[in-house]
Amino acid sequence: MIKDDWCGSMKNLKIYLVGFGNIGVGFAKILAKKAEAYRERYGLNILLTGISFAEGSYVSGKGIPLDEAIGYATARKLQKHKLYTNESFDDVIGKVDADILVEATPTNIDSGQPGLKHINAAFDRGMHVVTSNKSIVVDFHKLVECAEKAGLEFKYEATVGGGIPIFSMYRQCLQSQDVISIRGILNGTTNYILTRMYEDGLSFDSALQQAKEMGIAEANSSYDVDGIDSTAKLVILSNAILGTNHRYKDVKREGIANISLEAIQMAKKHGFAIRLIGQSDGRHLVVKPRLVSVRSPLNVGGTLNALEFETELLDTLTIVGKGAGSIESSSAVMSDVISIGSRC
Ligand SMILES: NC(=O)c1ccc[n+]([C@@H]2O[C@H](COP(=O)([O-])OP(=O)(O)OC[C@H]3O[C@@H](n4cnc5c(N)ncnc54)[C@H](OP(=O)(O)O)[C@@H]3O)[C@@H](O)[C@H]2O)c1
Repeated sequence: MIKDDWCGSMKNLKIYLVGFGNIGVGFAKILAKKAEAYRERYGLNILLTGISFAEGSYVSGKGIPLDEAIGYATARKLQKHKLYTNESFDDVIGKVDADILVEATPTNIDSGQPGLKHINAAFDRGMHVVTSNKSIVVDFHKLVECAEKAGLEFKYEATVGGGIPIFSMYRQCLQSQDVISIRGILNGTTNYILTRMYEDGLSFDSALQQAKEMGIAEANSSYDVDGIDSTAKLVILSNAILGTNHRYKDVKREGIANISLEAIQMAKKHGFAIRLIGQSDGRHLVVKPRLVSVRSPLNVGGTLNALEFETELLDTLTIVGKGAGSIESSSAVMSDVISIGSRC
């Protein structure tokens, strides 16, 4: 599909974006800022030909004007724009002219919906898929198989570690060897809470309250503090990198709600911090609070994520960075899009 759409030495790459919240708008903002650079550097003219959100869509075969879409979405006045329709994803997917579906609707680790429906419909219509949606944990291998059978790309860098290029690094830089195990901090909110308890002596409740006030905790804080988010990410990591076929229910999970300030202070006295660690050796998948030496590369503070790969030839390799955020995570979505556009 993409090959037929050359314009001189420039290749048009048409994107249908589903979900126009933090990630969707972040993606549009990055495109507005970097479109010219992508044309010059990669010969890719990236166009948003469709945007759908819960209540409507915005469609234009020529490419949606980005500044207008961002402005209207931010002001929630999109309905007034001439390109706005009240059609849903189901109406738009059959007719939108797009090479790649970017799926950024809310995560649902029980049913996987609406994300899984969107991704499967895109594969049925011959579109590549890039997603930030952790709902893929529900049916990970089936999605990978569907894409392979159809000869399509399926990329999900932003689902784990936000902007940190975990899967790209694994695919491009560790081909020479096996990864034996993975462990790390996969949720920035819990890490922020544990850091405030360690550094400022806050109780768990006060640190959680602070995280809520900063807007970094989910409305339902259980998702973070009970390790649900870390668990979904650990399963995606393990399945993608260690080749396992695990599901959410296979993980032994314990959150941080019972970590007392006294426990943290006792650990500190002996040169340790407590961190919520997800780890998989391919057989056992566990998310639980663990003692980490203060000198360990995994002992990162605040909202940072850190991931340690135990490898066959390189010993351990640790990668650290911002595990969430609109622009940070959308940068990973954009990298996936460029990587598909550059190869197709
Ligand atoms: N935010 C982050 O830092 C981050 C990082 C990594 C991964 N993620 C993941 O990325 C995804 C998006 O996150 P977000 O923070 O952007 O979420 P968000 O701000 O809540 O935005 C979700 C968007 O999805 C739309 N939507 C909901 N149901 C829909 C449906 N049935 N059809 C079409 N659109 C629908 C919403 O529409 P309305 O605008 O009409 O409500 C909204 O635009 C989530 O799965 C999240 O877990 C987020």
